[in-house]
Order: sequence, then structure tokens, then C-alpha cells
Amino acid sequence: MNDTPTTDAQRRHDPSVRGFASDNYAGVHPEILAAFALANDGHQVAYGEDDYTAHLQEVFRRHFGERAEAFPVFNGTGANVVSLQALLPRWGAVIAAESAHINVDECGAPEKIAGIKLLTVPTPDGKLTPELIDRQAWGWGDEHRAQPLAVSITQSTELGTCYTAEEIRAICDHAHERGMLVHVDGSRLANAAATLGLPLRAFTTDAGVDILSFGGTKNGLLLGEAVVVLNPDAVRNILFLRKMSMQLASKMRFISVQFEALLSGDLWLRNAGHANAMAKRLEAAVRDIEGVEVVRPVQANAVFALLPREVSERLQKRYRFYFWNEHTGEVRWMAAFDTTEADIDAFASAIAEEMGKR
Ligand SMILES: Cc1ncc(COP(=O)(O)O)c(C=O)c1O
Repeated sequence: MNDTPTTDAQRRHDPSVRGFASDNYAGVHPEILAAFALANDGHQVAYGEDDYTAHLQEVFRRHFGERAEAFPVFNGTGANVVSLQALLPRWGAVIAAESAHINVDECGAPEKIAGIKLLTVPTPDGKLTPELIDRQAWGWGDEHRAQPLAVSITQSTELGTCYTAEEIRAICDHAHERGMLVHVDGSRLANAAATLGLPLRAFTTDAGVDILSFGGTKNGLLLGEAVVVLNPDAVRNILFLRKMSMQLASKMRFISVQFEALLSGDLWLRNAGHANAMAKRLEAAVRDIEGVEVVRPVQANAVFALLPREVSERLQKRYRFYFWNEHTGEVRWMAAFDTTEADIDAFASAIAEEMGKR
């Protein structure tokens, strides 16, 4: 290979432009890009039999305990679909918050691809509790009802909130006492760890979670998530399910080496902690702008706010972000690992300026 690679591709975007629509809008962290180069060149066995994937098991075990086993996949929807299938029989159902990604944002993949019934519960803050779970935890043995055999929670939640370790422990105990297993959609698990100030295992493995979808893409990876089995007694046939679910990467070394770069040192925590801090900075900056109300606790990297719709629409011409609820006009602003203090300050100034034009 050439020492000085050239390319016929051209840069087609302005790299100084950053928005607040999603942490998925960010690029790849430079330390992750460097890891790609490390893994490149030469040949490695395909489909996960490579040296990077082998080493990854040690990396995940350091974070999640000796029984943990990681299965790299392409994306978060795939991680959820594989995880839930591994927990449930054909007649199984999973109890989840109404706002859960598996319910709202996966085009029905858990139902259509995995054939799993979702039993959802409205929540005030995106978080299930034992009491909320009980609204759907009934009917075992009744052949007419899909059997509630698992609970899925998201940490941090789709509404930017975090469960405490004790809350997750209470959910796991409650579920297990009723014969249900527990899945965590940890697409933003690192953000929760940064907020809680706890090691990853403290609110997963040690709290009794059985299986986890661990996020990488939103925290600086190019792509890649991992199904992490925390309780091997609870799952079945992950290898087959991953392939059947179209989540088996042939060049898996490139997903695995990214996770090695993310998790071997503190990059995972630095990135997530930074994104969280930028969300807090935004919350603080808009708090004093009259007419702007932050409507949910800021416990991860998202800020949810209410402001006049026409102001949001004008702002959207300057910065990318989404309406979270078209009906109420609530908007979601997200920070990423590469959001800068200057980005936040400029955005807050733009909000103040547009509010002033009313
Ligand atoms: C809570 C949650 N789970 C899972 C995902 C992963 O989705 P994807 O399939 O887009 O990687 C996302 C992405 O937005 C998410 O917010």
C-alpha cells in the first residue's frame, strides 16, 4: 500500500458547522480513527475470528465482570432485536416504556423481525418502575396473551433522564421475582455512567441486568454497538440470532478495534462526560431567557425545552434540531462529544436573539 494515500473523494461539507439535532450528527473521534489505521493492512480472519474481537472480550469483562461476553453488531436497533430474541421464546412479550426506542423509533423491528410483542406503559419521565411494570405484568399461563417474560429499560432514557443504580436494582429484583428477564438499551449507557459517577457494572451487572445493548456510535465510533450478555444463564443462541438478524459483520475487526479504543482507557467517559457537560451548559445558558422553559431534568446529553413555535422555526433555519413533540412544540437539543463551549454559547445567543424578535 502507498505510504501517502490519496483519494478522489472531495470534502463536501463544512466541518465547522455543528447542530443540536442528535449525537449521531457528530463525526468519528480522532482516537477512534487512529484505531482503524492500526487494524488496517494485512489479513485477519473474517466474521469475528480476528485478534481484535478476541481481545475485546477481556476489555468488556473489565467493565462488566467476569461472566460478560460481548457480541459486536452494526447498530442499536440490531443490538436490541438480537438481545430481545435471545431472552424470549416465540410467545414472549417485553414490557417497555411507551417512549422506548424499541417502541417508537425502530420501525416495528422488534415486532416484525423478532416477532416479539411489546407491552408498553406511559411514564412521566421515560423511566419504568416496579409499579408501572405491574400494569402489564400479568396473564402468565393464559394462552391468549403474549407472555410478559422480559422488561426493557433505556439508560440514559430517550427523555434525557437517568435511572439510579438502586432504581435498576429494584426493577431487576421485581422482574426476576416474577420470572421476567431484564434488558437495558444502553445506547447512551456511557452518558449515564458519567452522570451517576459510577462504573458501568454498578448499574448493570451488579444491579441484576441480564443483557445489554451497549452503545458506541453516539459516543464517538464510526459505527458499532455490542450485545453484552451479563447473565449467560438467561440467553440462548446469540451467534445464530446475530447472523439471522443481519448483524454479523464480516470485517468485524473494525468494529472491535473501535470498542477497544473507546473502552481500554477513559475515552468512553471523557466523550460522554463532555457531551453531558455541554448539555448542562446549554441548560444554564437558556435558564434566564424569558419564555424558554427547560421541561425535563437534564441528566445526560439532551435538553428538552418549550418555547414559542415560531421562534423554534426561525432558529431551525440557523441550527439543526428537531421538534420532539409536534403537538406541544417541545424541542430536543442534543450535545455530542465534539460540541464545543463556543457552539453552546453561540446557540444560546441565537435563542436569546430570536426570542427578542417576538
Ligand atoms: C435509546 C436508543 N436506542 C437505540 C438507538 C440505536 O438506533 P440505531 O439503530 O439508529 O443505531 C438509538 C438511536 O437513536 C437510541 O436513541
